[in-house]
Amino acid sequence: MFGSLFRRNASQKLSALLLVFGFIWGLVLLRYTFQQPKRQNSAELREQILELSKRYVRALAEENQNAVDGPRGASMAGYADLKRTIAVLLDDILQRLGKLENKVDDMIPSSVTDTTNSTSSNSAPAGGSKQISQQEFTSLCGLTSIDGFPHCQGKVKWMKEMWKSEPCYASYGVNGSICSFILYLSEVENFCPMLPERIKNVAAANVLKPKAKILSSLDGLLATLAEREELLWIKLRIERMNEKWIAAVKALAKKYNLQDRPQKKILLHLGLLTKESGFKIAENVFKGGPLGELVQWSDLITSVYLLGHNITVSTSIDQLKGHLSILTGNKDGCPIRGEKLLDLIYIDIVGLKQLGSVLGTSFTHYRCLLRVLDSFGTEPEFNHAEYTKKKNYGSPWGKLNLIPKQFYNMFPHTPDNSFLGFVVEEYFHKNHSAFLNKISRTNKALVYGKLADYWKDKIPFLDIVRKYAELHGTFHEDYKVVLPKYVINHGILSGHDLQLLLRETKVFVGLGFPYEGPAPLEAIANGCIFLNVKFNPPKNRKNTQFFQGKPTFRELSSQHPYAETYIGKPHVWTVDIDNLSLVEELLRQIMNQKVEPYLPYEFTCEGLLERLNVFIEKQDFCLQREIWPPISALRVKVAKPSQSCVEVCQKEQLICEPAFFYHLNKVAELQRYKIICSTSKKESDLYLPAYNPENQLCLLQSDYLLFSCAGSHEYYNRICPCRDYVKGQVAFCQGCLESKMDN
Ligand SMILES: *[C@@H]1O[C@H](CO)[C@@H](O)[C@H](O)[C@H]1NC(C)=O
Ligand SMILES: *[C@@H]1O[C@H](CO)[C@@H](O)[C@H](O)[C@H]1NC(C)=O
Ligand SMILES: *[C@@H]1O[C@H](CO)[C@@H](O)[C@H](O)[C@H]1NC(C)=O
Ligand SMILES: *[C@@H]1O[C@H](CO)[C@@H](O)[C@H](O)[C@H]1NC(C)=O
Ligand SMILES: *[C@@H]1O[C@H](CO)[C@@H](O)[C@H](O)[C@H]1NC(C)=O
Repeated sequence: MFGSLFRRNASQKLSALLLVFGFIWGLVLLRYTFQQPKRQNSAELREQILELSKRYVRALAEENQNAVDGPRGASMAGYADLKRTIAVLLDDILQRLGKLENKVDDMIPSSVTDTTNSTSSNSAPAGGSKQISQQEFTSLCGLTSIDGFPHCQGKVKWMKEMWKSEPCYASYGVNGSICSFILYLSEVENFCPMLPERIKNVAAANVLKPKAKILSSLDGLLATLAEREELLWIKLRIERMNEKWIAAVKALAKKYNLQDRPQKKILLHLGLLTKESGFKIAENVFKGGPLGELVQWSDLITSVYLLGHNITVSTSIDQLKGHLSILTGNKDGCPIRGEKLLDLIYIDIVGLKQLGSVLGTSFTHYRCLLRVLDSFGTEPEFNHAEYTKKKNYGSPWGKLNLIPKQFYNMFPHTPDNSFLGFVVEEYFHKNHSAFLNKISRTNKALVYGKLADYWKDKIPFLDIVRKYAELHGTFHEDYKVVLPKYVINHGILSGHDLQLLLRETKVFVGLGFPYEGPAPLEAIANGCIFLNVKFNPPKNRKNTQFFQGKPTFRELSSQHPYAETYIGKPHVWTVDIDNLSLVEELLRQIMNQKVEPYLPYEFTCEGLLERLNVFIEKQDFCLQREIWPPISALRVKVAKPSQSCVEVCQKEQLICEPAFFYHLNKVAELQRYKIICSTSKKESDLYLPAYNPENQLCLLQSDYLLFSCAGSHEYYNRICPCRDYVKGQVAFCQGCLESKMDN
């Protein structure tokens, strides 16, 4: 089942998700429009949004009906295999919704997705950390630096004027003195750094907190999951992998000292499983295989549980309300007093909208606890609401004003986000390795892609492959597209059977779609060579329909950039498949290769546990007191004009690390890397910090949410924070980890 899941049509799955999400956005906006009936044409806009939403629902309903009555029972999970025509129609509706939404944005002064304006209508000036004088420092109650807290000063100014406007401030000890503002703004709202003497108190309080204990059994979790029908698929996956998980967590505990970790209270809200999402995933998951997202949730839940944290899994808006009821009781938007009820919230994009509507204005207080599962990645320019609006990207995604590292991706897609990943399931126990190794590998080529559509214009290429290998496929039999006679089709296989077939296969042949699926990892883990399709020019949002509307300008240099960049030869050969002579030459070489199975550590149970444990311990988007990864990993590189930091770091076998931008964004710091600034100024754009060597003009970043690995500029040289990485654990730098031995 795992195997078949990833051979589903990823494009359609994602566009369906995107569409449903667009619809939810529409409703959210509708609410605002009703609340803000000020401008003359708002009624008109409301009308248009309503009409488009209706059409969306109609189209979706039709599609669902077809799916249920269709061949092969529900032709995959209902919405997942939307027919192309409908997908195009919905895309069109979506784009129009996007445009309308931008208009509505202009009419709404503040929304749930607003960073600077918190609880109340707060008019603190946005923008960067100001150079503040010694005198002003003292007036900030003994704070020695407000580096990293760009809104602190503005918020203090605002409090001076407005502290009486909210009765709840007084209940937090706000009494009109600057110190009381700082205490409130640092400990309740996270806008200012904590006063040094208070940090000690907080550290002392942390010592008293319960510790997280590594668990060596999943029975407790499985019992909880067993009570909930909608989590059945997740439960079955965990059961199948039970032994592997336990072995992995034991190995991790041997490797590191995991004794002294505070236990966190963690809420996991699976928006995609809620009835309100309309996805019907829980109902359809066994008919056509689940979504990759469900795989990721399943592995995430297991990991946080085994790491010993206190978890709550929510799959409906009512449950979400239940868990958050205390938070939402107070109408004035004042954050809840006393001990924090939650330390972390894992959520998906659909769930995030639901959380926004449950929390209302309190949303902003929980913003820094969020970790958003976002399989494609969200680049800073789409995350930054004002910037996106200015550029008029018209994407229904993004605009959340989170710190970009709060987005957790399926692959290490964009270094601006965090790489959460998932576990590649192996269907055979270690005991079977002798048996698996006995299966003899013959000259079989298995074509990747289960929809015959992908094959259509690839026949000349396949004609060449066929000269060197016997061609096999695993695609839907009821597709009408005529395939070459020489293809041996197995139909959709179970994960178990697929693994057996992969063991007999020499080459796993990409056709250019689906993009970035997990299947090539499975193939490589079974000893296949992956023939990866090179894209020249790279595919992106501008030249490829699939990426339109996605919140990223990421360039795909091939069908599977991860395999190309982080695995490479001898397991992965990336080739322009339109160059038939080149393909032929390559196949001659590949057929003589003997390649061992390889699964990058980051896609194993242990690799995920290791990574997630460090994220939970080190990533702190609330107080941001510590830079992680450690600053010692910083390698500064200067990009050429038009080059991004993603590119320049990658060229040097490094990776861009946005956590270091802030540190680097100072004239004195640049000097240490021989970048001399005769003049400098602060601006806000994606390509900063940057400089012009001719006139020694340095441009520094004033808006920290715009720090971006992805940006570039025609004339300026970007100054890039790169770091090395561990092969097989890309999220870590080489000096990031202290094992037990080092301690
Ligand atoms: C905050 O609110 C004020 C009005 O209350 C508005 O002028 C300002 O643009 C808002 N700031 C942001 C970043 O949205
Ligand atoms: C106001 O609050 C600050 C900080 O809690 C405290 O140090 C100060 O004594 C208070 N002032 C008055 C007049 O209560
Ligand atoms: C989790 O936290 C809740 C509320 O603080 C507590 O009642 C419960 O016992 C905790 N569960 C575990 C397994 O620690
Ligand atoms: C694997 O082999 C060991 C020892 O030979 C045995 O105890 C264990 O039950 C086996 N596991 C499976 C899943 O066959
Ligand atoms: C095809 O590949 C060959 C060998 O690398 C190269 O010499 C040739 O220029 C390529 N042809 C095209 C059209 O790119």
